[in-house]
Amino acid sequence: MKAVVWHGLGDIRLDEVPDPTIQESNDAIVRITTSAICGTDLHMVRGTMSGMKPGTVLGHEAVGVVEETGPGVRNLPTGTRVVIGSTIACGYCSYCRSGTYSQCDNANPNGRNAGTAFFGGPEPTGPFDGMQAEYVRVPFANVGAVPVPENVTDDQAIMVSDIFPTAWFGGRLAEIGQGDTVAVFGAGPVGQFSVLSAYLQGAGRVFVVDGHASRLEAARRLGAEAIDFNAEDPVAVLQELTGGAGPDRVIDAVGVDSESAKSGPAAQQAQESADQFRQEVSQVAPESGQQGEQWKPGDAPSQAAQWAVAGIAKAGTIGVVGVYPETVTSYPFGPAFMKNLTIRTGNCPHRRYIPDLLRLVASGVVDPARVITQQEPLTSSLQAFEAFDRRDEGWVKTVLST
Ligand SMILES: NC(=O)c1ccc[n+]([C@@H]2O[C@H](COP(=O)([O-])OP(=O)(O)OC[C@H]3O[C@@H](n4cnc5c(N)ncnc54)[C@H](O)[C@@H]3O)[C@@H](O)[C@H]2O)c1
Ligand SMILES: [Zn+2]
Ligand SMILES: [Zn+2]
Repeated sequence: MKAVVWHGLGDIRLDEVPDPTIQESNDAIVRITTSAICGTDLHMVRGTMSGMKPGTVLGHEAVGVVEETGPGVRNLPTGTRVVIGSTIACGYCSYCRSGTYSQCDNANPNGRNAGTAFFGGPEPTGPFDGMQAEYVRVPFANVGAVPVPENVTDDQAIMVSDIFPTAWFGGRLAEIGQGDTVAVFGAGPVGQFSVLSAYLQGAGRVFVVDGHASRLEAARRLGAEAIDFNAEDPVAVLQELTGGAGPDRVIDAVGVDSESAKSGPAAQQAQESADQFRQEVSQVAPESGQQGEQWKPGDAPSQAAQWAVAGIAKAGTIGVVGVYPETVTSYPFGPAFMKNLTIRTGNCPHRRYIPDLLRLVASGVVDPARVITQQEPLTSSLQAFEAFDRRDEGWVKTVLST
């Protein structure tokens, strides 16, 4: 079959690889019809998420059709159309049973304390071959592959594989309540869904902070008030727009590839933190896949966190879903402490939210396909990866058909 394979930093290829086969009783083989590219994939190609094993198939979002199941999969007849959650979970350990599927005790072959197991990730996460491919082996498929209602399209369902639940989780982490004022940092695909989710969870106002005009424009179409950090000081603007108080809640949808401002008043401040940012980058990505402007790690890993902590209201809550791998050890903790902030973080327990979000979509409350900006065949995935990595104008979320 064809698959996007990680060979090295800055080196991914569309390869011919063997078809996956059933290995465990709870496995299913799914023929993928729709996949997608996520910001998390970029960290692995840029080098800001380390530990990738050459030969790993990338991708952790998929919709497809069940082709074959092991004897432990009693709930998925062959031919069922399913959406597969990005993280892998057993469904029966205490963590899964309490809804924290992303800390499952049994899914990660490296042991219960090895961290979240997910498709197409670094070695310590499994590694499990991913879903930018024609077929995938789904471990614990009885839990992680969820049937898609008939009136939900593939394009809608693929958004529920990872980024919609992640953003929803971000809103839950941030404790968004009725009428709250929310700031979303990052207007990538997860940021767009964070805007949508914040409103669905009752937010009264939602701001979005990013440095890319076309992404800010997309968020504006979802009802967000846009702040361009390359033109304005985002902290000052957040205060100004809230009578000096700051937003009650923040969702950090940026992660480790955070950038500093390149122009405007915030660029001036970035100069003062330049040494700290350089040190953070060398700690996070001692090696990178950078080739010119391609696969370039973010130049300021803690920038979004600093703005979030400085901008939020006293006693506010920050939900962090942008990925910060274990190499990231700097966070503006003192300033957060002094404001009585609550900070909650982590990988999304996808399976906890997928069924409910599918119901929201099926009932017409929200159309998640509106966030999709590109439809490409799997055979064009490398070019799509490159354009998404460069954040080319208009490239927000790419769906891959196989
Ligand atoms: N926790 C989870 O389970 C989970 C799941 C999916 C994705 N993620 C993570 O969410 C993050 C976002 O994913 P994405 O697909 O939207 O990626 P993306 O790279 O497309 O989006 C990141 C956005 O942040 C913006 N940005 C950079 N620096 C900023 C700053 N200082 N302030 C504000 N905005 C800034 C960028 O311009 C970009 O638009 C990534 O870190 C990804 O790994 C986490
Ligand atoms: Zn993802
Ligand atoms: Zn479990």
